Amino acid sequence: MKRISIIISLSVFYISCNNSKTTHGDSLRVAKLEKIEIPAGDTLNIDLVDLKAKGLLINTQVVTVNDDPVYHKTKKFNALPLKELLEKFSSIENLNAANTKVVFECEDGYKPEMPLEKLLSAKAFLAVSDVDAPEGREWEQILKDGHAMKAEPFYLIYAGVSPKDGDFKWPYNLVKIHFAPLNENDAMLVPKDATAMTGYNLFKKHCQTCHAINKIGGKMGPELNFPKSVIEYWKIEDLKAFIQNPASYRNDVKMPTLGIKPTEVTEILKYLEYMSKHKI
Ligand code: HEC
Repeated sequence: MKRISIIISLSVFYISCNNSKTTHGDSLRVAKLEKIEIPAGDTLNIDLVDLKAKGLLINTQVVTVNDDPVYHKTKKFNALPLKELLEKFSSIENLNAANTKVVFECEDGYKPEMPLEKLLSAKAFLAVSDVDAPEGREWEQILKDGHAMKAEPFYLIYAGVSPKDGDFKWPYNLVKIHFAPLNENDAMLVPKDATAMTGYNLFKKHCQTCHAINKIGGKMGPELNFPKSVIEYWKIEDLKAFIQNPASYRNDVKMPTLGIKPTEVTEILKYLEYMSKHKI
């Protein structure tokens, strides 16, 4: 599917702020971007790294997260309210939130998404640095399954959202945010055969943030369908066992053990089988 990305250039505003080294007032004068209508199929990108480089992510406040789902303890971050940031640097006001999703792009290829309406319903913040970081660093490292992971450059956090609520995404190592129609990829990924539907929903929930099917999805793990489906070059029994316990196949494996039940794996494989016959 052809996607035209609208990259917002902030360079014009940058010039007007650039002369002043003080951090008060001036940067808030950054003009609102012109309202743009986003036709279906188009996306709207916010490059957070670029905004920081231009000195636009300032005036942070300290936000405390009890029982942080990534660090597994109480953490304090220097953060900016996300809604205000999106309103300032994108044209979300023009979007119909009910029909829009937010896609978070992480440096490591992880790509979670959630409905814009859901995101706006909570107090979300963009954490730009970690108050508890060790001397000389901006962030404390994240330890996940024994691997050290980078939280920088940005981490999405919330105030008043339970870390157990799976509807809210907490991406770290975040670099870009983009908006797209809520059902953007349905035509490509939703199976037309009801027997593969349960598997599709499971795949969407547990796998798509890291894996692409027909080039759509995360890039942290390999594409699973195109040009060859894993169904075509893995033995089914191995595929089942790998999905349940990747570390039993590869040393230092980067795919986590997700706790998927055997019956769920069977459903996911029905979907992968279906998609292997429906390539791009
Ligand atoms: C957090 C990211 C992540 C999630 C979530 C994830 N995977 Fe993976 N997956 C990976 C990575 C990374 C690899 C490459 C593993 C390696 O060799 O270290 C991989 C490898 C695989 C492979 C082997 C591909 C090959 O040919 O080498 C399969 C099959 C697979 N994943 C299926 C799944 C399924 C099905 C799900 C959902 C139930 C899933 N993965 C969820 C990251 C993920």
